[in-house]
Amino acid sequence: MLNWFTRNEIKRDLYSPDKTVKCQIALESGRITYSVYKNEKLVIKPSNLGFKICGEKSLTDNLIIIREQKKRHQETVEMPWGEDRYLNNNYIETAFYLAEKKEPGRIFTLRFRIFDDGVAFRYEIPPQPKFSQITIEDELTEFNVEPNTYAWSIPAYQPDRYEYNYTKNMVYDLKNSVHTPLTLKTPTEIYLSIHEAALYDYGSMTLKLNEKNILSSDITPLSDNTKAHVLLPFQTPWRLIMLSNSAIELTKNRIMYVLNDPPKEDFSWVKTLKFIGIWWAMYVGEWTWAPGEKHGATTDHAKEYIDAAVRLGISGLLIEGWNDGWEGDWLSNGINNKFLVSTPDFDLESVADYARIRNVEIVGHHETVGFIDNYERQLRDAYNYYAINNIHYIKTGYAGSKMLINGRREFHHSQLGVKHYQKTIELAAKKHICLNIHEPIKGTGIERTWPNLLTREGARGQEYEGGALSPSHACYLPYTRLLSGGMDYTSGIFDIENPVKRIATTLARQLAYFVTIYSGMQMAADRPYIYEKRFPSVFRFITEVPTNFQKTIPIAGEIGEYYIVARQDRDSENWYVGGVTDEFGRHINIHLDFLDNEIYEASIYSDSDEAHYRDNPFGILITKRRVTKNDSLDIYMAPGGGFAIRIKK
Ligand code: NOJ
Ligand code: CA
Repeated sequence: MLNWFTRNEIKRDLYSPDKTVKCQIALESGRITYSVYKNEKLVIKPSNLGFKICGEKSLTDNLIIIREQKKRHQETVEMPWGEDRYLNNNYIETAFYLAEKKEPGRIFTLRFRIFDDGVAFRYEIPPQPKFSQITIEDELTEFNVEPNTYAWSIPAYQPDRYEYNYTKNMVYDLKNSVHTPLTLKTPTEIYLSIHEAALYDYGSMTLKLNEKNILSSDITPLSDNTKAHVLLPFQTPWRLIMLSNSAIELTKNRIMYVLNDPPKEDFSWVKTLKFIGIWWAMYVGEWTWAPGEKHGATTDHAKEYIDAAVRLGISGLLIEGWNDGWEGDWLSNGINNKFLVSTPDFDLESVADYARIRNVEIVGHHETVGFIDNYERQLRDAYNYYAINNIHYIKTGYAGSKMLINGRREFHHSQLGVKHYQKTIELAAKKHICLNIHEPIKGTGIERTWPNLLTREGARGQEYEGGALSPSHACYLPYTRLLSGGMDYTSGIFDIENPVKRIATTLARQLAYFVTIYSGMQMAADRPYIYEKRFPSVFRFITEVPTNFQKTIPIAGEIGEYYIVARQDRDSENWYVGGVTDEFGRHINIHLDFLDNEIYEASIYSDSDEAHYRDNPFGILITKRRVTKNDSLDIYMAPGGGFAIRIKK
């Protein structure tokens, strides 16, 4: 539908295909606002839109609509890997072409897509006579929820980037900027999460209360105190509001991915991976990253771990600390990291050869410590070096509170940070290398376009165990951080009572993570001798659990309390069910109605009646039984515990 009439005042109700979601657009007195309804309940009250542009008038007032364009879109998207093979991309789109009716007469477009489970919109600024590039001083997008809406958040602009514990507040109590996805629950019991999709050339959107006390966009600034320098045509990332009737239903939301473009090249070479690592031994003080007596990444250790991977049925091995640069205080010395120079006791070529013959994938490692100038100087050669040595996976790291880019300290989630990560992804793709980015930019679904970005960290993972993680943390993640994509949580630590790093978990819960926390690269993070000597029968679950799923069915849960999910393997008819709970034990009943009409064998790894994350973490029961779709399973999760089930046809 095209309307060629110039309009000063309009009100438009934009409905989702099933009409349960409505977005109301109003143009009044030259300003444009949107509001959002779900099931006829007002979720986001009229909210302003627009920009402040450096050296120009704000792009907010004196607006008229010169054209509207509506389009229905319905498509099934196939993902090469992930939690679900098929995603719905089903929305009604309306684009509003706006112009200022006074000088300077600029034009821009607001494009809205209304889905049955959310609303997305973005700004598009075409080239125009007066300017071909602009500097964004501020984006003025509001998300005007009731102040007494609950919010589960982590703080932005802090030294540990995205690695914080979630807290629950009322929106009116959000004192500082918080990261997205920001998950909220309205007084009318609608759950929503505010996030963004397709972030490429802009600062990451954080959220804060503006001067009117309305939740609004706070784009991560650059060191020059602007938000972004952009060339026209320019489009912002999609502003995304996921909507649902319950917390568990929210975890099904996949709009973020379908807002991203399909890949532009062939990525059929990308394969998800399970791996062990020369890694946790450093965290518990057995080995070191730096060369010396206890150096972890030696040729001999690497070969031993390759043999262990083969015995354990795990396809990959991560090797940290193989390169020059870890001596002394590596966090401060990172500017000297060399990504083409091995320590004297490590022979990359010989390790890579040993792995290739045994069909083990090496996961290379680049710890940049945020020294981007140093890293980018070596990037091309460093990726080449891995590629010619048959290394197809790299874990990168950006420890440190800020990055050093063009000699200036910048936030990881600033426009320049975003562009650096993208550069690594695109270069890696050229070399057929997959990435696992630690201290990354948050996920905005770009792995749809760049499937070689197999996973990222971007939240507190098990490296924080030993005091800084409570059992509730992993019960927040599915409803918050994991709405932005998979996470390398470094699951599977079985040496729970290690005096250096005591883990707040039961043993069964460590298996649960392989199901509850999706990752395209999934690490079995403990040392192989712990698995082989102490818990071979428990480890079997990790060998078997896939890293690529056909279908995901969230079953039950509440934010920060518990989470239960079932996933079907992409390559077989088998199902995997996992659950985690907070500090409280729970009995749950899982109906197996997602199964086909066949007989299956369920292998159940669950907490014993006496298990407890504090005093009895090893209390585990491993049982087998025949099940059909008419059965339900009664499972007990101990305090700080969890369970994992493999259901085999
Ligand atoms: C932080 C990462 O999250 C961790 O996995 C890595 O071992 C260290 N940086 C060192 O690179
Ligand atoms: Ca980290």
